[in-house]
Amino acid sequence: MRLLLLTHAFNSLSQRLWVELSEANHTVSVEFDINDAVTREAVAAFQPDVIIAPFLKRAIPQDVWQNTRCLVIHPGIIGDRGPSALDWAILNNERRWGVTCLQANADMDAGEIWAWHEFAMRDTAKGSLYRHEVTEAAVVTVRQALERIATGSSRPRPLDYSDPEVRGRWRPFMKPDDRRIDWLMDTTGVTLRKIRSADGHPGVLDELFGEGVHLYDAWPEDCLSGSPGAIIARRHGALCRATVDGAVWIGQVKKKGPVGVRSLKLPATLALEDRITDLPEAPEEFAVDDHRETFREIVYREHNQVGYLEFRFYNGAMSVDQCERLLRAFEYALARPVRVIVLLGGADFWSNGMHLNVIEAAHSPADESWRNINAIDDIARAILTTEDRVTVAALRGNAGAGGVFLALAADQVIAREGVILNPHYRNMGNLYGSEYWTYLLPKRVGINRAEILTENRLPISARRAAQIGLIDRVVETDTISFISAVEALAEGIANSPGYEDIIREKHGQRKRDELEKPLAIYRAAELEQMKLNFYGFDPSYHVARYNFVFQVPHSRTPLHLAVHRRK
Ligand code: COA
Repeated sequence: MRLLLLTHAFNSLSQRLWVELSEANHTVSVEFDINDAVTREAVAAFQPDVIIAPFLKRAIPQDVWQNTRCLVIHPGIIGDRGPSALDWAILNNERRWGVTCLQANADMDAGEIWAWHEFAMRDTAKGSLYRHEVTEAAVVTVRQALERIATGSSRPRPLDYSDPEVRGRWRPFMKPDDRRIDWLMDTTGVTLRKIRSADGHPGVLDELFGEGVHLYDAWPEDCLSGSPGAIIARRHGALCRATVDGAVWIGQVKKKGPVGVRSLKLPATLALEDRITDLPEAPEEFAVDDHRETFREIVYREHNQVGYLEFRFYNGAMSVDQCERLLRAFEYALARPVRVIVLLGGADFWSNGMHLNVIEAAHSPADESWRNINAIDDIARAILTTEDRVTVAALRGNAGAGGVFLALAADQVIAREGVILNPHYRNMGNLYGSEYWTYLLPKRVGINRAEILTENRLPISARRAAQIGLIDRVVETDTISFISAVEALAEGIANSPGYEDIIREKHGQRKRDELEKPLAIYRAAELEQMKLNFYGFDPSYHVARYNFVFQVPHSRTPLHLAVHRRK
């Protein structure tokens, strides 16, 4: 079929659908929902059989849905309607939720239902639910709907609130007061739910140190406490605030700022550094097999001769400080009696490379970019030059740009089915990239394919990545069972009779590669190009970064996505 993805942005869900539908041999094109005229133009040019709307902020023009079948993905159970579906589901502590694929008509989310899929809710942020459960359910519903349309096997079902299966209902847009935190009343559980219902957007409106802020990235704390509402500690980027029955950590903050002035989502202590005085620093967060609940971006644990290093950096973004801490943690793992080190990244993202928001907030973004890329390169080098252990990168969540190449520094790269990789940098204002990608990528996929991947700037599924050798293996399972599969694999390597041979072979290969061309040469050449990106005449990287971090709306769909706009 000819399928047009009409979407506000090419976000994780749209990327996943693009990948799934393209791999299922549909002809897929993308148009950003910019205005009605642009949408009409795209439909006229592409002549799609079906328009799929995974992520829209506006209604589809009437003449478009009247003339072409439009499938809307709604992140709610059957009968649920309105623009804040997941927000209400989290705030109301729903235990089951779902995704509905419905046909667009004149009433928002009230069209005929082609397919729906339910899932068990997890206690997590809206963005995490969206990237996992909602995305998986959306893929199922779109596949079913398209099959039903193609075969004519069944008709869509009208929304009928007298049907006992229809549990949902209309819910309005969620306003700041609907989830405002009452620090003198709300328990830790309620506070977490309020913040999570608004994470990544729009954040919970609150006040910290007398400043209006939006809160994100909430973590429970099971040791520290204080008088309700008091800010009682800091650790790295986060602030700890007491509730009536404990405390929560707030990892990220965006200042409210005056109307019309753009503000950045940043680690809380950085966003408010001018206001914070005399706040005690809670001790270092990572320790072997410590199961306390607290804010801990880096966690290390060991089992059966395998060390597991988790780095749960918000949005997968890695600042200089986070890179330096991760490097110390990796060195710590190297000093432990383990035979395999598994790099687990975070549950939502393995890594998305340099921390573009922290860079944007820096006094000199060019200098900060330089420091940041060097800090990531240092981790990549430490992984690459680990000669006496096997390293495994295990991707539960997506990875983009430098994050993908950092993963390739490990001996083995495995990913959960459903993971999306963006192994390219160019979307960020023609950024050249480093992380030793000029060594790692051609080594895995050959020079030609390396060029295609980096020039095409398209997402790729874990399945396809394994087929072309970009990664080693895909595990077909959900996020929770993925960890068990990774443990079995890592323990298999650690206890394998061929372990010493693996180490010898790896050592020899690295030595041969180093003789042919030292890692330092790759790095120097990449950084030479990066210097031009950061300090050179062409400001594209700085402009693209600004647009990205402030989420400036798109003014057109790039041609690598809009097939119908290519000559
Ligand atoms: N630095 C800071 N924030 C980042 C980030 C980065 N490198 N990568 C992603 N994010 C943030 C986004 O701003 C967004 O923030 P929000 O929660 O405030 O909306 C969030 O992570 C999710 O990103 P989004 O773009 O919505 O996710 P996605 O799954 O749709 O797309 C990518 C993933 C990787 C394609 C896209 O995020 C991207 O291009 N990131 C930049 C990668 C990069 O150029 N890194 C620098 C070079 S190493």
